[in-house]
Amino acid sequence: MTAAPARGVGRRDWSTWPNYQAAAAGFRGYWYPVGWSSEIRGRPVAVMLCGEKIALVRDAGTVYALHDRCPHRGVPLSLGNQQFPGTLSCPYHGWTFDLPTGRLAAVITDGPASPICGKVTVGTYAVAERLGMVWVYVPAADEPAPPIDAQLPEELVGTSFVLGGRMQRRDGNWRFAAENGYDEGHAKYLHRTSLWRLFKSMPVWNETHIVRRGRWIYRVQDAQHWHADFPGLGRWTSHRWWKVNRPPAEGTHVSNVGNTGGTSRVDPVIAAQDFPGFASIAMPGVLRIAYPRFIHYEFYVPVDERRHRYVGVMVNFGGTGAAAWFWCKYLAAIRWLFHGDFSAQDAWMVDVTDAPPERLYRPDVSLTEWRRLCEDVVAGKMEPTGRPAVAGPRSHALARFRRTQVHRVRP
Ligand code: FES
Ligand SMILES: [Fe+2]
Repeated sequence: MTAAPARGVGRRDWSTWPNYQAAAAGFRGYWYPVGWSSEIRGRPVAVMLCGEKIALVRDAGTVYALHDRCPHRGVPLSLGNQQFPGTLSCPYHGWTFDLPTGRLAAVITDGPASPICGKVTVGTYAVAERLGMVWVYVPAADEPAPPIDAQLPEELVGTSFVLGGRMQRRDGNWRFAAENGYDEGHAKYLHRTSLWRLFKSMPVWNETHIVRRGRWIYRVQDAQHWHADFPGLGRWTSHRWWKVNRPPAEGTHVSNVGNTGGTSRVDPVIAAQDFPGFASIAMPGVLRIAYPRFIHYEFYVPVDERRHRYVGVMVNFGGTGAAAWFWCKYLAAIRWLFHGDFSAQDAWMVDVTDAPPERLYRPDVSLTEWRRLCEDVVAGKMEPTGRPAVAGPRSHALARFRRTQVHRVRP
């Protein structure tokens, strides 16, 4: 990538974070959500994950994932169908693969005694279902998949909640999406015009530092500035008279739950987490934004080097009554205002981001600390395998999951 010479252009590449720089198609050795459970049925579905073609199919209630390429002539197995229980047949010559193992179980056009049976195997992937979604494990080497619950946000394991979520294939590298999600600076400015923020004030700027706790890093707000006087230019604020969620008096309140002027009572499950900051992120690109009454999560799923799958999930931990109320609010408003209009502003910026080169500024400590976290975690994961946990480039078509859904989850 080249750029016209410019003064103070800053960083020209990401070589400070070599594993991150190499992870254009994602980090391997992680579980990723690839579709809503209800959308994976007996008809095979093609997805692309970390540059790999994968065919998903549900058989007798269990979802299986095969490498989506017939070893015979390279036709996508996802174009085939099931001719026998527990198998998937290629549409071209009827090579038929056992779903749990990927072993060639029959070749319909070569008769029952085909000598090639048992001599060919197509790759398989570990599959799990959580949060109403199908998750696929992309191995770094040939290791068995670790338990998926160890990778989910801790508060979503063993608790009851209702969630509403959106999946959408979006243009732009997954790292731009992750950096946008965790970026300290943009929300207060970019989203000031969103309908979701129509009645809520947001600060002009924050004083922030990053802390690491466990596998997460947190943005901690030390001070919030709701108005600012820019020398020689004048006063700037995003507050307007109609914003009923008014900012607190300057210097009197620093909230680390949410980023608006609201001071709602904090849900007990959220309060019990004692998050150091309202925005946190963990590998391999899981964002957590804690608000007083709900938590919003974003999973940035690498499709290939140019595209990612956005998975936005809003979770309410209330009891049955609160869950029903949240369910109604999600379907009536939140999915349009937040997972639609508000999130579309992020999708727009992720699509047009073009870095490096980049000239970072003070709030971008959020970005550099995220990249540092990636480096540290990947270095730790490489030790047992001796192989880089990054995906190689490939490019194919992918399935689209655009529908929003709501789910009730019980432990
Ligand atoms: S290409 Fe799949 S059976 Fe021939
Ligand atoms: Fe945003």
